[in-house]
Amino acid sequence: MTEPPDLTLSLATIAVAAGRPPRRADGPMNPPIVMASTYHAGGDVGYGRYGNPTWEMFETALGSLEGGVATSYASGMAAVAAVLDLVPDGGTIVTSADAYYGTLAMLERLQSRGRLTVRQVDLTDNDAAAAALSGADLLWAESPTNPLLRLVDLETLLARAGAEGVPSVVDSTFNTPIVARPLEMGATVVVHSATKYLSGHSDLLMGAAVARDAAVVERLVAYRSLQGAVPGSIEAWLALRGLRTLHLRMERAQASAAVLADRLSRHPRVATVHYPACGAMVSVVLNGDVAAAERVCDATRLWVHATSLGGVESSLERRRRWPGESSEVPETLVRLSVGIEDVDDLWNDLAAALERS
Ligand SMILES: Cc1ncc(COP(=O)(O)O)c(C=O)c1O
Repeated sequence: MTEPPDLTLSLATIAVAAGRPPRRADGPMNPPIVMASTYHAGGDVGYGRYGNPTWEMFETALGSLEGGVATSYASGMAAVAAVLDLVPDGGTIVTSADAYYGTLAMLERLQSRGRLTVRQVDLTDNDAAAAALSGADLLWAESPTNPLLRLVDLETLLARAGAEGVPSVVDSTFNTPIVARPLEMGATVVVHSATKYLSGHSDLLMGAAVARDAAVVERLVAYRSLQGAVPGSIEAWLALRGLRTLHLRMERAQASAAVLADRLSRHPRVATVHYPACGAMVSVVLNGDVAAAERVCDATRLWVHATSLGGVESSLERRRRWPGESSEVPETLVRLSVGIEDVDDLWNDLAAALERS
């Protein structure tokens, strides 16, 4: 149903043009939202758990942006589960302690059941990471990490994994293909919480896994079909609509994040700024106690005090308010997701909240 994307185009053009119905007189420019649990017999799909034309449009667009074949899921965690299912029983997965806590919690559960072994290493240390890869079955990397925003040298790490014959996964939720395209650096799979920047409007949950190897794609699709980890077609339609402006949103949010990180680094209430100079996330460790940090989050009028990230609206939260968050994360660390509002309005609101608290 979808037209093949022209991969010589820039990412901005692909974001707008990919995943549209064929051009024909009076055909719609946008994909229809197909609400169907079943299809007329005789075709390749047959049933709503095996495929949906609206997902397909989103997958074509995201796959074109990442340079692979995308499979969409009901949430980012469903995509994470699908990818972890690639690890053989009893296999070993190399990852960092500094990663999304939902992924770490899932790994811990799988390890406690004896399904796999988790080898944790500081992935920002190239030599330690390379040593940990020996005999492993999967490398799981996040860069920048959540919420300390530390950068992993993906180019080197993925090359080392490739040389060792270890399949590699990059959770690229924070980066998006606008900032990095890990498949081009040798990653086997790229994972996204499409809930975040890809859809960009804080109005849906969705996930995706993108791969180049046909056998890997087949397993990712089979997992979705058998586990029923399917997205809704309204969600897929909204995610595709959000994707159309990904490049513009990222451009604005990244520029504002750089300005805010600089201003925050000179503010007396701020002890440390974690900002990797790419992406639109900034974490700050505030001077003062936990209650004062909470007061800052409650005192903003524009910034939304909420979890999640990657929406058009700026949001913030103290990460340790979640009991599952790593104890490595300082108690007064506030993670900021910079949106696309006017940067001076954002700064004034934040500065006033810091003054008031
Ligand atoms: C880096 C990262 N990966 C995966 C997920 C899970 O995605 P979802 O909440 O869509 O299940 C999140 C959610 O916050 C995330 O931040």
